[in-house]
Amino acid sequence: MYKPDKVWNRFAKRYEKSPVSNEEAYQKKLEITRSYFTPESEVLELGCGTGTTAVAHAPFVKQILAIDVSSKMLEFAENKAKAAGVTNVIFSRANIENISDFETTYDVIMCHSILHLLEDKQAVIANVFQLLKPGGVFVSSTVCIGSNNAFLRALLMAGRRIGLLPLVRFFSVEELAESITDAGFSIDSQWLPEKSDAVFIVAMK
Ligand SMILES: C[S@@+](CC[C@H](N)C(=O)[O-])C[C@H]1O[C@@H](n2cnc3c(N)ncnc32)[C@H](O)[C@@H]1O
Repeated sequence: MYKPDKVWNRFAKRYEKSPVSNEEAYQKKLEITRSYFTPESEVLELGCGTGTTAVAHAPFVKQILAIDVSSKMLEFAENKAKAAGVTNVIFSRANIENISDFETTYDVIMCHSILHLLEDKQAVIANVFQLLKPGGVFVSSTVCIGSNNAFLRALLMAGRRIGLLPLVRFFSVEELAESITDAGFSIDSQWLPEKSDAVFIVAMK
């Protein structure tokens, strides 16, 4: 059985050290996201990794709950927040598949580099919709590999079977956009910086 915490704990150190693949696009995505924040925003980040994005956004919002399944990723995230003097981000270990149990609602929910790593993204997007306040904003950045790369697909599936690589789902930008609108969202903006980049989608409840 796939254990995301085990796999991602192994990647944590390397993930923390590796630079953002397209820094210019990353900065622009931060900027666009901030245009949806207010100082009163309550934000939820799913699959926060080593906390870079949550720490960067912290000064612009009231509070961020940033969850991840990997305790090692969260260790790096906690240290990063501490080093930056950030006190309004709560890092918590939780599985995204269980967010339907959450009882609070949020103004903004962020899913960066995570929707393609889930068993059932449609169910998670539906839960995100439920967890947003009316008029809430869903911000995501997702690598869409599509289903036509048979070699890469076989490689990733083999890696997953032997427990070395995480689960990776294959879908196109169009399929992802459809999943988001099918959940009831309307897409406010969609940006693919370069063909091989992650697509950035801002959607409104
Ligand atoms: C590719 S990293 C992205 C990290 C961060 N969002 C970013 O953009 O740099 C994926 C993260 O999602 C986490 N993750 C994977 N499956 C998860 C799940 N089911 N529940 C919670 N976190 C999960 C991993 O531990 C990892 O930190």
